Amino acid sequence: AQIMKGSFPHFMLKEIFDQPSSSFNTMRGRINFDSYTVTLGGLSSQMDTIRRSRRIVLIGCGTSFHACLASRAVLEELSSVPVYAELASDFVDRRPVIFRDDTYIFVSQSGETADTLQALRYAKSRGALCLGTTNTVGSSIARETTCGVHINAGPEIGVASTKAYTSQVIVLLMIALVLGSDSVALAPRRREIIDELRVLPDKIAEVLKLNEELESLTEHKLLKATNLVLMGRAFQHATCLEGALKIKEIAYLHSEGVQSGELKHGPLALIDEHLPIISIVVPDAFLEKSMNALYQVTARGGRPIIISTTDVDLSSVLAASEATGQASAAAHSASTEALPSSSGVLRSPRVGGTGDPSRTAHPTGTDITLPDEDQLLDQQPISHKLLAAAGGPLQCIRVPRTVDVLQGILTVIPLQLVAYHLAVKRGFNVDFPRNLAKSVTVE
Ligand code: G6P
Repeated sequence: AQIMKGSFPHFMLKEIFDQPSSSFNTMRGRINFDSYTVTLGGLSSQMDTIRRSRRIVLIGCGTSFHACLASRAVLEELSSVPVYAELASDFVDRRPVIFRDDTYIFVSQSGETADTLQALRYAKSRGALCLGTTNTVGSSIARETTCGVHINAGPEIGVASTKAYTSQVIVLLMIALVLGSDSVALAPRRREIIDELRVLPDKIAEVLKLNEELESLTEHKLLKATNLVLMGRAFQHATCLEGALKIKEIAYLHSEGVQSGELKHGPLALIDEHLPIISIVVPDAFLEKSMNALYQVTARGGRPIIISTTDVDLSSVLAASEATGQASAAAHSASTEALPSSSGVLRSPRVGGTGDPSRTAHPTGTDITLPDEDQLLDQQPISHKLLAAAGGPLQCIRVPRTVDVLQGILTVIPLQLVAYHLAVKRGFNVDFPRNLAKSVTVE
């Protein structure tokens, strides 16, 4: 075991740091970056059947289910077939209607998860085409499906899945690319994605350089937390669910991934200046909505840690804060622990600093009228709203930018590292957390 971990203290950390090479291995021999073609030998005999499917249904448990959620939209976009994601256990309970022209894709790192296997047997018995994607050649799911695609991520020992997740997302994306390969209209989109897949391993390596910064952030901001909310939307919703799962699995911290659009339907009630929040804000088609969600939180005294990309312009927040709040910024720096160096601390003036009561955070969180979303999208630049709302330094982790469908791979890795450091600092068994098994072979 010592040898397999190399110089890493835990399998999980090794597996997180494997991701530049595991992601490369998932693509190796399958993507031709010069001709922009993707070849998945395992699926070639079934491709026409899959393209003509009535529906594509992705099924998994735990992290593998999150990979299904993360990939659902792009599969639908590139295949033009309706795509659904199902939790295996719930699917088995419901025994839903299955059409013979449905395609099911069973996603499982181990290929042995009982719930997923039961779901496979049910779908197969109803005559649907059943495909598998696993990390284990010869596993039950690999054997019982008609065909499939191995993720080739290499053995994963840590109970908390890391590199398998990123490789599953890549495999499902490659399936989407193959399904969409006939469409001329989609050619620019496919090229954009394939160009980014080519540089993905390098960008993952860039994210891993944030390790020390993330360790320090974990120590200062999360170590004593008893609850954590992670918020994001669209492609980043799966990232939040996966980040929350990692953190609860190994750090035993109750954490919840929230789709930002749902904030106003409940989770906003949780927000105050004490609740730790991680907010993912990336430059996809939903950037403005994500910024709005951030505002909804800061307006209630929340102090989110922001995970964003290097090119999202939050500088106006900094500039405006310097212009309007030198004195209060100084007061803040004395009273708050800010991360050193590159952490991108965004200073903002104290509550009420703009003199505009409608844009002022209420320090106690009482008596607040919820601004409606249209109002939030009004004349003022969002950065100013943020500035007005935020009551202190906001910390921002910056990852490289990539295409929307791959951005979740770069934003989930900081969360894997946060979970890891939190578990180590809390003294827990990172690789073998209590009550959990790597492969759950009982229903
Ligand atoms: C267990 C593991 C999880 C994993 C899930 C699905 O619960 O602890 O980490 O995501 O099973 O496993 P699979 O092998 O099917 O991907």
